[in-house]
Amino acid sequence: MIDLVLDPPVLVFGGPYSNLRALAALRQRAGELGIPASHCICTGDVVAYCAEPEETTQAIRDWGCHVIAGNCEEQLAAAAEDCACGFEAGSECDALAKGWYPFANARMSPESRAWMAALPRTLTIVAGDWTFRVVHGGVDVNNRFVFASQRQAIAEELERAGADVVIAGHAGVPFIERIGGRVWFNPGVIGMPANDGTPDVWYGLIGLEGSDLLLSTHRRAYDHHGAAAAMRRSGHANGYARTLVTGLWPSLDVFPPAERCAAGRRLRQRTVRVSLRARISVPANRAIIESSTE
Ligand SMILES: [Fe+2]
Repeated sequence: MIDLVLDPPVLVFGGPYSNLRALAALRQRAGELGIPASHCICTGDVVAYCAEPEETTQAIRDWGCHVIAGNCEEQLAAAAEDCACGFEAGSECDALAKGWYPFANARMSPESRAWMAALPRTLTIVAGDWTFRVVHGGVDVNNRFVFASQRQAIAEELERAGADVVIAGHAGVPFIERIGGRVWFNPGVIGMPANDGTPDVWYGLIGLEGSDLLLSTHRRAYDHHGAAAAMRRSGHANGYARTLVTGLWPSLDVFPPAERCAAGRRLRQRTVRVSLRARISVPANRAIIESSTE
């Protein structure tokens, strides 16, 4: 079933994470690019680590972009006791979640919970000759972490998705990974830096040039000092407040070895061009051309 037919450009992003300032900066960028809310898609986790959960929820509703439910929306909609992020029990991430999740859960209005409960879990989109499946974590498991180095997991998920491109979130770092004729596109998150040693946050763009598909990742600077100060003012400062400034995550628990090694290394913005060389049903004949910028 197709949920949306969109004429690119389309802006995609993950995890606002209660970071009101970052979300405002992204909305501003969408405006600068002339991309309306109807062409902006969030892969979920509107609420998580930062200081303004209810305000960020209201801001994204006010913007009116598409949002699917992340594990955080599912848990907050049910006023559940934990975030169900998939952190290992006893890990640093798990310990931190015991701080930020109750903070957020105590601040959500009934209206915001109702809005979260009504969010779709996935979207299927068509743009030009291309099909896209929007998911939060994995196709069936909403809190599955999928990182660029996990080729086997990506291959499985792409097979399950049944689309040319999967747009995914949850993992928190941007990457574009091709397997066969299909592409896993994680545009990164807008609410937390990408553990690359810079405070910038990330979003993605989908474009078409003729029948070619252009997928790209972009960094966005914003008032990260203000976001960190808001955490301190709220009495909710923890390792993530420091992360907003340093660009380094408080824990690498969830990362596979390759991503751990990349910690603190400045990420490049990437553009991947995917060409249709034959019928869409013959994905192996698609050609991928890539360029990168700092
Ligand atoms: Fe998530």
